[in-house]
Amino acid sequence: MNFNHVNEELFSFLDHSPNAFYAVRNMCGILEQAGMTRLYEGAPWKLEAGKGYYVTRNDSAVIAFRIPRADYTGFQMMASHCDSPVFKIKANAEITADKQYVKLNVEKYGGMLCAPWLDRPLSVAGRVIVRTQEGIETRLVNVDRDLMIIPNLAIHMNRQVNDGYKFNAQVDMLPLFCEKGEETDAFRRLIASEAGVSVEDIIDADLFLYNRMPAVTLGLNNEFVASGRLDDLQCAFASLKGFIAATPKDSVAVHCVFDNEEVGSGTKQGAAGTFLSDTLHRINRAMRRTEDEYLMSIASSFLVSADNAHAVHPNHTDKTDPTNRPYLNKGIVIKYSANQKYTTDAVSGAIMREICRKAGVPFQTFVNRSDMLGGSTLGNISQSQVALNTVDIGLAQLAMHSPYETAGAKDTAYLIEAAKVLFSSSIEEAGNGNYKLKL
Ligand code: CO
Repeated sequence: MNFNHVNEELFSFLDHSPNAFYAVRNMCGILEQAGMTRLYEGAPWKLEAGKGYYVTRNDSAVIAFRIPRADYTGFQMMASHCDSPVFKIKANAEITADKQYVKLNVEKYGGMLCAPWLDRPLSVAGRVIVRTQEGIETRLVNVDRDLMIIPNLAIHMNRQVNDGYKFNAQVDMLPLFCEKGEETDAFRRLIASEAGVSVEDIIDADLFLYNRMPAVTLGLNNEFVASGRLDDLQCAFASLKGFIAATPKDSVAVHCVFDNEEVGSGTKQGAAGTFLSDTLHRINRAMRRTEDEYLMSIASSFLVSADNAHAVHPNHTDKTDPTNRPYLNKGIVIKYSANQKYTTDAVSGAIMREICRKAGVPFQTFVNRSDMLGGSTLGNISQSQVALNTVDIGLAQLAMHSPYETAGAKDTAYLIEAAKVLFSSSIEEAGNGNYKLKL
């Protein structure tokens, strides 16, 4: 495994994907380069065995699939998410402070660690909706320079700050944008000029802050990687690379990346929406298969829900379960929860362990401490649309939901290898809890 090469590609993807819109655009570019054909939800689909395709929804979720043969037995799928906790710029964003400063009005998207957003260069990226002759058009904008900062209050003005601080998003988290000058509407003018249109032509926008610090390797032997958005672009990237490198034989390989996992997935482009179920049904109909055959194929399908996992923290080793302790660089983390916040059970856990063994990559297990609630992810949410054997996994990381997270330098390559095995394999339901694994 060439860890350095994988990380170079991962870093380029992370640095060019400040939010979900860019992550999806970049994945589409990689899929296009790999020879996959673009489909549109609003147009008819003509599909051929032996070919690969991809489709987006809302420009912020993507599903790619490869059909090996018309009489495939099932779908081998990996699902991840491309959104991260972030600050969204509100409409009418400019606020003048003391007639001297212009700051921007923002609100929280998802549950982030607030402190690390302060005192570092930030910028803004997202999409604007522009008026055209025929209607409206989406344009992505990324102001690719150090532009804003959220300054801390000096310790002299709050001596107790190091004893714990409660961040108020309306007070503490507004970024300083510029000095107050003669110009009005400076922020909207900047966005319009970046989009190459006049201010009047921008009808609406979804714009988000992002941390300007690029991805790096660190540690004495470069054993760690650090970047914004590792949760969950690290898994999305590994899924994509494994999908392209795979050789699907008897099952359709399906790479899914959803938006809005950090806010509960309940959107048209989120895992609770119909995107996956609609896509699988359209594949089924395009291959002239009956609804019965669709349900039979779902029974012989497998979903890997891939979302990053908590590594043991070096300064807080007691926060992790006593017997299930994931570490960076120790491989794919299989996540368990008795309450089924994670979908893994003995069957899907066993299948995932066999996939890792076949791929020759290490794996480890995660369970929350019994006195801790922990988070959830998209695996159990997507069951309401497509119910099938599902395992929850992730890559071990520190500082989850910080704008700068830390992970292992080897783990992305491990997940690519496992994804390659998943997407090349088939799992046939044989009744009575028995499955034929063609790995
Ligand atoms: Co996540």
